[in-house]
Amino acid sequence: MAESSSDLRPRRWWRSTTTRVLAGVATVAATATVLVAAPGADAAASTLGAAAAQSGRYFGTAIAAGRLGDSAYTTIAAREFNMVTPENEMKPDATEPNQNQFNFSSGDQVYNWAVSHGARVRGHTLAWHAQQPGWMQSMSGSNLRNAMINHIQKVMAHYQGKLAYWDVVNEAFNEDGSRRQSNLQSTGNDWIEVAFRTARAADPSVKLCYNDYNIDNWSYAKTQGVYRMIQDFKSRGVPIDCVGLQAHFTGGSSVPGNFQQTISSFAALGVDVALTEVDVTNANTSQYSALTQACMNVARCVGITVWGVRDSDSWRSSESPLLFDGGGNKKAAYNSVLNALNAGGTTATPTTTPTGPTTTTTTPTGPTTTTTTPGGGSCTATLSAGQSWGDRYNLNVAVSGSSSWTVTMNVPSPERISTTWNINATWPSSQVLVATPNGSGNNWGVTIMTNGNWTWPSVSCSAS
Ligand code: G3I
Repeated sequence: MAESSSDLRPRRWWRSTTTRVLAGVATVAATATVLVAAPGADAAASTLGAAAAQSGRYFGTAIAAGRLGDSAYTTIAAREFNMVTPENEMKPDATEPNQNQFNFSSGDQVYNWAVSHGARVRGHTLAWHAQQPGWMQSMSGSNLRNAMINHIQKVMAHYQGKLAYWDVVNEAFNEDGSRRQSNLQSTGNDWIEVAFRTARAADPSVKLCYNDYNIDNWSYAKTQGVYRMIQDFKSRGVPIDCVGLQAHFTGGSSVPGNFQQTISSFAALGVDVALTEVDVTNANTSQYSALTQACMNVARCVGITVWGVRDSDSWRSSESPLLFDGGGNKKAAYNSVLNALNAGGTTATPTTTPTGPTTTTTTPTGPTTTTTTPGGGSCTATLSAGQSWGDRYNLNVAVSGSSSWTVTMNVPSPERISTTWNINATWPSSQVLVATPNGSGNNWGVTIMTNGNWTWPSVSCSAS
């Protein structure tokens, strides 16, 4: 996550330029057009995250809260990855152990670790037949439907404005392409679209995904079943932004020859595609390189996440399926993935990006500082530049004056806020953030996905 400047210097020189231009600025608007070199043109990036970022993609891992005390683990994770999926900590049994009593302690632990190391977070998962808390397992009918809706609303409210993606529904199909029988399915066939509609209303800032395994082979019935559901959702306006192919090439399965066709076919429906839980039996190098290449070749394949850091961290550790061995050493598969990322491919164009590959960019302009004084109180919100990456930047916001403030931030389209910290956030629309204090003080911030536009948002502060 922490991409050292030396990792990226050959083609990321604009980043340090940007930081220098903006450091400490108060009121001066600075605009400069700078070039970003085409991927694969020169020296290679030396970490997975940095290599993926060259084409606008991320490279992620599953992180387990219980391993965050292991410095060998966190050193690798912080260095290599810029997307994090909590392995178990945001699942229903973790977040709602008793009905309507929520526990975000381990989910927050993973979230806070990720963002403090420059990674974004993929929420996993809101509605699933497995890892339900005991009280939910024994529910059915309208009670269960209402409990699912309440769960989605409450969990998404807690992480509102903070996550890049949510796996709203996980593993809802059978191998033959029909719906998996479960207590959720028994509440009615529309349970999946209800989950997605509920999710969109709960947090319009996050991309909503359907996630499943064994949907890698285009001619497989399950792949077709999921494809038809997404096609149906898109045609009827049910909100869905992305599909996650878990891509567990373990337990007897392997990368199919038509894997790229599967990715491009889903992408053609108008959703982002991600490989969300990758592992490969014995970390076969040609399979790792093929799956990476397939993603690189499809513009809407936005990133790859491996399901753990070292082999010893894997749910299938006996198959040694990951990119680092138990001692934390890079395996041959690591190099095959890194090389495929460095070789370049299409530039990722997520669904919110209206134009093709971006070859120029503009430094963020601003900051905009506005003070309003209703009722005699006053406050000032001042923006300053934080860290930036190839596809996003952090903004720090310092509020002075009244300690009882409301800051409204308007984000120019197609930019989107993907993460916030130290505030209570509400969203009148996907482009407008309303921030109030959450007890963490008056310094807070946001991560903004540029989608090609680096103009800073405007802010106004209102004291009460
Ligand atoms: O934490 C407890 C521990 O206290 C207890 O002693 C131990 C005894 O069984 O269990 C521990 O919890 C286990 C947990 O992993 C943490 O290690 C659970 O039993 C075990 O069931 C759980 O497995 C997780 C599995 O999902 C559950 O379905 C795996 O870690 C996790 O990697 C796996 O992830 C799933 C994705 O969410 C969805 N796609 C498939 C993928 C692999 O199964």
